[in-house]
Amino acid sequence: MVCETDFDVPVTFPVIDISLLSSEDELQKLSSVLRSCGCFQVIGHGISVEFLDKVREVAQQFFALPVEEKQKYSRAPNEAEGYGGDLVVSEDQVKDCCYRLSLRVFPEDQRRMHLWPENPADLGKTLHEYALKIRSVISDLSKVMARLLELEENSFLNQFGDRPALEAKFNFYPPCSRPEVFGAKPHLDRSGITVLLQDKEVEGLQVLVDGTWRTVPVIPHALVVNLGGLMQVMTNGMFKSPLHRVLTNASKLRMSVAVFDEPEAEKEIGPVDHLVNHTRPRLYRSVRNFTAFNYECFQKGKNSLEELRI
Ligand code: SIN
Ligand code: FE2
Repeated sequence: MVCETDFDVPVTFPVIDISLLSSEDELQKLSSVLRSCGCFQVIGHGISVEFLDKVREVAQQFFALPVEEKQKYSRAPNEAEGYGGDLVVSEDQVKDCCYRLSLRVFPEDQRRMHLWPENPADLGKTLHEYALKIRSVISDLSKVMARLLELEENSFLNQFGDRPALEAKFNFYPPCSRPEVFGAKPHLDRSGITVLLQDKEVEGLQVLVDGTWRTVPVIPHALVVNLGGLMQVMTNGMFKSPLHRVLTNASKLRMSVAVFDEPEAEKEIGPVDHLVNHTRPRLYRSVRNFTAFNYECFQKGKNSLEELRI
């Protein structure tokens, strides 16, 4: 299905107003997007554009710091959190042209504060406030998704446990004139739901829909939602987790901020029982530590969801 929207300009990318999800039309639009693309832009989320700009501003201020200053927060080898470029895993690897600052925001007692930049001074407070707002968007979406499949509304949230994690990733893509290099190679997210704040001006994110790479247009006040692989597993394949990638830009830098949920450590995630029946047999094995599994598959050039298929 081609994802159309009734937005006033003819874009081929869906926009969902989550303040309208009490209307049957908007719900049906969301349902068809989840079953086909698994990626859409969200408006009506209640977060002001001024606050979204504040998040973009602290990200921009951090990345503009001198290298030595940023390196105080460097990611240690084999660690996911901290600041750094693409991980080098093999000699023939073409590295992504991207610098990232990854931080676990929740549960709060799992924060590694020595990796949280002191400069700009309000980065920590801004990230905390932003993550609270996004956690509530994720939880609302997760409940709507469950209801769309006629499940109890906490069916997906419960699988993630009492203390699910929320991770933030600030992405900085410098200009790059080598077209064979990606900002981010095609991948599936490891989350249940990822919410992405895009750059205000520069496009770059593409999502694979029906075999075609579609550019996600810039809408400054919108958030991009991508379903992660775990949502495709939990819904027994009813909702799709899209492959996506980031292209580089020869002359302009681009930034984005991704926030995503992850289950409590060692939680086993599998298809919800009610979505497995004789007409729709179980499609996926259950998985513990999907983050590591997804990354391992990515390194081997394999699709983690295909690898989990029964
Ligand atoms: C990602 O999915 O890894 C980043 C997306 C983006 O920067 O637009
Ligand atoms: Fe991603």
